[in-house]
Amino acid sequence: MDRLLALLADGEFHSGQHLGQALGVSRASIWKMIARLEAETGLVVDRVRGNGYRLAAKLSLLDEDRIARAFAAHGWQVNFEQSVTSTNALALARLQQGAKAPFVILAEHQRAGRGRRGRGWTSPLGANLYFSYGFVTNDATRYLTGLSLVVGLAVVAALRGMGLVGAGLKWPNDVLVGRRKVAGVLIELSGDPGGECQVVIGVGVNVNMVEANIDQPWTSMKLESGHEADRSELAISLAGHLAAALELQRLQGFDAFRAEWEAHHLWQGENVTLRLGEREVSGKVLGIDGAGALLLSADGDVRSYSGGELSLRLAP
Ligand code: BTN
Repeated sequence: MDRLLALLADGEFHSGQHLGQALGVSRASIWKMIARLEAETGLVVDRVRGNGYRLAAKLSLLDEDRIARAFAAHGWQVNFEQSVTSTNALALARLQQGAKAPFVILAEHQRAGRGRRGRGWTSPLGANLYFSYGFVTNDATRYLTGLSLVVGLAVVAALRGMGLVGAGLKWPNDVLVGRRKVAGVLIELSGDPGGECQVVIGVGVNVNMVEANIDQPWTSMKLESGHEADRSELAISLAGHLAAALELQRLQGFDAFRAEWEAHHLWQGENVTLRLGEREVSGKVLGIDGAGALLLSADGDVRSYSGGELSLRLAP
């Protein structure tokens, strides 16, 4: 399937015979593979008698060699997948099976991309970045404190470096342009927080997606700039910023990021409502503490809040 997609990616017509020869299978098998490709990925393939098959829209797939070379500079292995349920789920499963870490999984498509608080993450084929970095640690407290905020900052740096200068953060780790979400971070753990812990940092960036049915305001790099962005360049840039951020966190802890994080917080000083399960708290955002918890001032009191299930919205 991967090779079939690579052949069709140029958006030109390819005859069943040519595809069959290239893949060493019959024309009937090509017909079945095309139907499976459509069913699995949601891609549309035109079939024209006498011309063969072509993708309804040209795809630019990730440049595997270029990315693998750049990631090797950080000592990271990278695995490319065409279509997975979720890069985070796959990374966690591989860590649990004892795969050599650290590594990154990049996919062209996720069939069941995972978002925070049990939500899904829209992941069309060849359009966006689906990135999961897996590692193992014996010092969870040190490496996990504020980790999701550190990753959010690395994502903002990568996006700004590629020209999306309006990218900023919303606590704890949403990446927004104005009020619209362009990227998200989902950290998943397994193992023993007091002993060996398997950690997956998942990052999803809306890169060239221009249509989607998402029940919250969203945008993409392409919608913001008006032109296609290079997903391979973004993957490489994100890896560079993430590697540097993880190293700084290892050496100096989360406190080293606090001021920079607040400087990029789009809702700094805003009046907000924080939802904690069934309960809501309203107050003014003062910033974050040394562990990345949100500091809210309400009724003359300053309180800190943390936890993956919390969600923040601007007060009406
Ligand atoms: C959020 O809800 O803001 C977090 C979204 C995280 C999505 C990314 S895409 C790559 C990785 N694999 C997943 O299933 N989720 C994360």
